[in-house]
Amino acid sequence: MEIIILPTAEEASEVAARLVARQVLEKPESVLGLATGSTPCRLYQSLARKHHSEALDFSRITSFNLDEYVGLDPAHPATYHRFMEENLFSKVNLARERIHIPDGLAADVPAHCAAYEQAIRDAGGIDLQILGLGADGHLGFNEPGSSLASRTRIKTLTEGTRRDNARFFTSSQDVPHHVITMGLGTIMDSRMCLLLAFGKGKAAAVAASVEGSVTASVPGSLLQFHPRAKVLLDVDAASELTRADYYQWVYHNKPAWQTDL
Ligand code: GLP
Repeated sequence: MEIIILPTAEEASEVAARLVARQVLEKPESVLGLATGSTPCRLYQSLARKHHSEALDFSRITSFNLDEYVGLDPAHPATYHRFMEENLFSKVNLARERIHIPDGLAADVPAHCAAYEQAIRDAGGIDLQILGLGADGHLGFNEPGSSLASRTRIKTLTEGTRRDNARFFTSSQDVPHHVITMGLGTIMDSRMCLLLAFGKGKAAAVAASVEGSVTASVPGSLLQFHPRAKVLLDVDAASELTRADYYQWVYHNKPAWQTDL
């Protein structure tokens, strides 16, 4: 894991955008894994800017989103379909036929999940997976206790996550109990992971994920086993890390040949 701590969420998102842009430039037919939530919003804004001002071309990119609520019409304002449309898809030139988001209205959920996994394999696997972190350490919607080998499937949200996400719904009762999410095994198969976390509310989950034991109780901790995971934090999200000074020193003193940003 490479831990990158920057003063603000804006700066950390800018670094994330440069990493995604580099991936797109180096391999224009890359497969990107996309996340939702408030955390990646600035990253998506920056990618949209790069598309318009630097002609960053997404036309050959394939994308797979991490998760979606079960039972909501895609037009519902809180769906991840709507979120992605508003925050990224309407702002860059991704080809519609190469955009994938789990279908929360699928009639046969297990068959849909198996087909989603197959589509990822058919696309050649995910090159770069963008991730946020739940306050309880969840990745995608893999709540604590999720199998470390899990694949795309239905999950039941914890009351904590339903409360955290209630801000996107008119009433907290409207937050679905069920979701479809890529599994932790699916996420671990990606060639590179970019985990973003900002704010004090994420500090405990970040510390447990980065410096705690690897455990299904903290899904984010599984990234310690990922061969190429970068964790981008603002100072607040990094505030409970015991080795923060060390990570900062390492980042700011890389040998020139190792500097990739
Ligand atoms: C949801 C999403 C996750 C996201 C998490 C954090 O639960 N399914 O993918 O990482 O929220 O959300 P936020 O970025 O809004 O803090």
